[in-house]
Amino acid sequence: ETVDWNPVLAEKGNYRHFMQKEIFEQPRAVSDTIKPYMNFETGKVVLPYATFLEEVFKDVSRIVFTACGTSYHAALVGKYMFESMLRIPCNVELASEFRYRDPILDGKTLVVGISQSGETADTKGAISLARDAGCPTCSIVNVVGSSLARMTDAVIYTHAGPEIGVASTKAFTAQLAALALMVLYASCVRNAGETDLHLRFKEDLLRMPGLMEEILGSHEILQDWAMDIHHALSALYLGRHVLFPIALEGALKLKEISYIHAEGYAAGEMKHGPIALVDENLPVVCLMQHGVIGEKIRSNLQEVEARGGRVFLVADELAAQEAGLESKLSYIFKVPICHDLLSPLLFVLPMQLLAYYVAVERGTDVDQPRNLAKSVTVE
Ligand code: G6P
Repeated sequence: ETVDWNPVLAEKGNYRHFMQKEIFEQPRAVSDTIKPYMNFETGKVVLPYATFLEEVFKDVSRIVFTACGTSYHAALVGKYMFESMLRIPCNVELASEFRYRDPILDGKTLVVGISQSGETADTKGAISLARDAGCPTCSIVNVVGSSLARMTDAVIYTHAGPEIGVASTKAFTAQLAALALMVLYASCVRNAGETDLHLRFKEDLLRMPGLMEEILGSHEILQDWAMDIHHALSALYLGRHVLFPIALEGALKLKEISYIHAEGYAAGEMKHGPIALVDENLPVVCLMQHGVIGEKIRSNLQEVEARGGRVFLVADELAAQEAGLESKLSYIFKVPICHDLLSPLLFVLPMQLLAYYVAVERGTDVDQPRNLAKSVTVE
């Protein structure tokens, strides 16, 4: 008698879906991405396939990040990190737009392509254009030897491991870790690395895997939220500052795998349109950090509630407390506090889990959602 054994299915282990497995693998994916690049003796970042960047960072005048889909959201976070930590002006461009719009480029503009697969046609097109314009280029990719890695002057590999689920999860958090490493590397080259701010950034980057583990331990809360969201026709995700890209990513995840229409919005823009949609049927997922920016989100919450909308709040521990919201809201998910520029690594986890549980509740094909492909190698 023979036994059917499918090696791909076998790798799913105890998980029902690859996406679920990949969500829970993220502490490992992030730690595997950070460790090989960190020299723990000197405290410095070493980028073996990106030594080319040393000269580039000395007099770069601008960085352009370009990518598609979830990788584009990582690029958006990269802009906040680089501008805030290094004061280097950054642009973030959808690769499909950038490549066809005759952008202004020169030899002092570093163009960084971010891609899980390293094979996305538009991202490759964007990098070719940058190369032809004489720009130094770098890629952040998950697949060793992929086209994009071969096209660029420098490569920073993420070590998320093979990602099977079409909707990207662990590749995204690994990309954020790679961007943070790139920031630390550039700070060192530019002699900006010894401030308290940079040291705290580095320390918190190293703490990420543990904090991510903590969040994943509370996954059941999101399972409960999913029960109250899966019938919705549409959902709104609000965030500000570095959590704005995470609102976009949360909405994208929900669309991709549950087929519920969702929009991510910068919370400050709510009054310029989406507030018209708010009623008791619209779940509104709010992402809130403590401090000045968090306070701004608080008024959005009140606006939603005043219109009978349902708020699903994801807040860092202090933000939830400061706002005195714990007793008032029915749905609160708490995230540990860390350096604000690294908080996307934490806040994205509940976004992924929520989309996952909603999709499971709706019975969709989580790992291979309709009409989508894992890598889009043609235009
Ligand atoms: C496809 C996938 C997405 C991914 C995007 C970019 O649309 O379904 O999950 O984010 O391509 O892929 P890349 O490999 O370039 O990161």
